[in-house]
Amino acid sequence: MAAIESATQVRLGGVRGGPDVATLRNDRWWLQPVVTVSILTAFVVYSTWAAFQNQNYYVGAAAHRDLISPFYSPCLTNTCVPGSGAGFAIHGWSWSPALLILIFPLGFRLSCYYYRRSYYRAFWWSPPACAVADGHGAYSGETKFPLVMHNVHRYFFYAGLVFNVLLTYDAIRAFRQPGLGWGVTVGTLVLLVNAALLWAYSLSCHACRHLCGGGVKTFSQHKTRYKVWKFLTPLNAKHMNFAWASLIFVALTDVYVRLVASGVLTDYKLF
Ligand code: FES
Repeated sequence: MAAIESATQVRLGGVRGGPDVATLRNDRWWLQPVVTVSILTAFVVYSTWAAFQNQNYYVGAAAHRDLISPFYSPCLTNTCVPGSGAGFAIHGWSWSPALLILIFPLGFRLSCYYYRRSYYRAFWWSPPACAVADGHGAYSGETKFPLVMHNVHRYFFYAGLVFNVLLTYDAIRAFRQPGLGWGVTVGTLVLLVNAALLWAYSLSCHACRHLCGGGVKTFSQHKTRYKVWKFLTPLNAKHMNFAWASLIFVALTDVYVRLVASGVLTDYKLF
């Protein structure tokens, strides 16, 4: 049989990840890294700004609402705006209450397998895209500090579940309109969609799928785990979509609550 020859001369020892040129791709491979850098940078800048604001994170009884920003829930200090507290207060914390809790959702996202792929590519060019040369001459994997810390992703996943329960509780509380009864406002829907997207992001997590269906030799002897694994697998295939949708929406939820709390927007009652 005739040998099949490659049209591309690949020289071992050239640029890591491919031939001795930056890339042979002539499509717009750079678009995805640019979009990733733009969205993640915007999110980090906005969320840092919002976390330090320490105001306009809650719309309470004076406006007949019960809406709290996800960046500030649970609000754990004795300086929380009246009505926004979690029923348990830490005394002596004079900074923004958001700074007490953001490490958990932040750690969950930072150690997420999908985000790791995205930001390694977009920020560190390691490599920036398939069949594009790596921006670095060496590769040490995730074997050293700080990247080795990504191994705690499973524990951030557990913490993320706790936050999902709390934010779902906030969404249910958003049906409450103090002084008026119960009803649905735009804010109620915003908090509901936010909680749903965060659940979709968590349940589609690779660690979640492995916890539910991994390490099993025969599914026939673990029928319940098999059912859960079957349910989670299609969600897992959409993890990237849920990662972006939930990231953007959690920021938009904070924006919405902030605009209502500061009087720029009115939270319209739907029924
Ligand atoms: S892999 Fe993305 S949240 Fe776990």
